[in-house]
Amino acid sequence: MLVGILCSRIRVEEKLLFEALKAHGTAYEKLDDRTLIFDLHDPAPFRKYDLILERAINHSRAQYALHILNDWGIKTVNTAHTAHVCGDKLLTTQALRQHNLPVPRNLVAFTPESALEAIEQLGYPVVLKPCVGSWGRLVAKINDRQAAEAVLEHKQILGSYHHSIYYIQEYIDKPGYDIRSFVVGDETICAIYRTSDHWITNTALGGKASNCPVTPEIDALSRAAAKAVGGGILAVDLLEKPDGLWVNEVNYTMEFRNSIDTTGVDIPRKMVEYIRQEASA
Ligand SMILES: Nc1ncnc2c1ncn2[C@@H]1O[C@H](COP(=O)(O)OP(=O)(O)OP(=O)(O)O)[C@@H](O)[C@H]1O
Ligand SMILES: [Mg+2]
Repeated sequence: MLVGILCSRIRVEEKLLFEALKAHGTAYEKLDDRTLIFDLHDPAPFRKYDLILERAINHSRAQYALHILNDWGIKTVNTAHTAHVCGDKLLTTQALRQHNLPVPRNLVAFTPESALEAIEQLGYPVVLKPCVGSWGRLVAKINDRQAAEAVLEHKQILGSYHHSIYYIQEYIDKPGYDIRSFVVGDETICAIYRTSDHWITNTALGGKASNCPVTPEIDALSRAAAKAVGGGILAVDLLEKPDGLWVNEVNYTMEFRNSIDTTGVDIPRKMVEYIRQEASA
């Protein structure tokens, strides 16, 4: 068995995955997206891989690479389809809605004027997010009309094309944390609370990780959310309301360095077991 790892700069996560692959006696090769060349007429150099695991940092590179590989019939984790859906918050919400999963109320508009109208319809506070983005970047909580006008003007004048798609979400008054669960195939392997004084609880922004027991509700919702976006190895962000859990988003090239000691679950080992199973399926 030979596994390809599509990567770029090697982070802690990739190092842990390489160690887990070695521990399982699984041969692997790095495919560095900074030097990689695809000849669209010749898949032969990639045929030797039983599976390619995507661990790139750049979203566009990941998406195009997965698309090319899947078109050639080469197995990848995750698939191009899953990456496409998860790479875009609007498409993710849409997929979750299509599967009748609980998501915060969401409006979409395409101009600053209609976005302001949508924000007023939804009622303050609202959350405005770029459809494509991560680490909490440019995620904005808007408390009143003046703030809405200011953020919309900034987006219009300073933003790129992506910022002209206005993804407007209900603000969920969660209890100081959100929940991130890790789904590998059809198993919710563990979950963490991300607690912060700030309403944005990402650990990349200082949120503290602690173990979150996987309740039957977290398990069922996480697996259903993963399935809705196409399945694979995924991290699901859940928001808690007094009346239950809501799915915020699903992430497709998950970071997990803060969650191994926290949960006591060997996440890279679980990932490698799944990759091996998929590669030989
Ligand atoms: N509608 C909301 N109501 C309350 N809190 C929210 C809401 N949306 C996001 N948050 C908080 O902000 C954080 C960041 O938002 P989100 O996960 O949507 O974007 P992101 O962090 O940029 O994506 P990624 O998880 O890929 O890094 C969430 O983890 C959550 O704590
Ligand atoms: Mg998130």
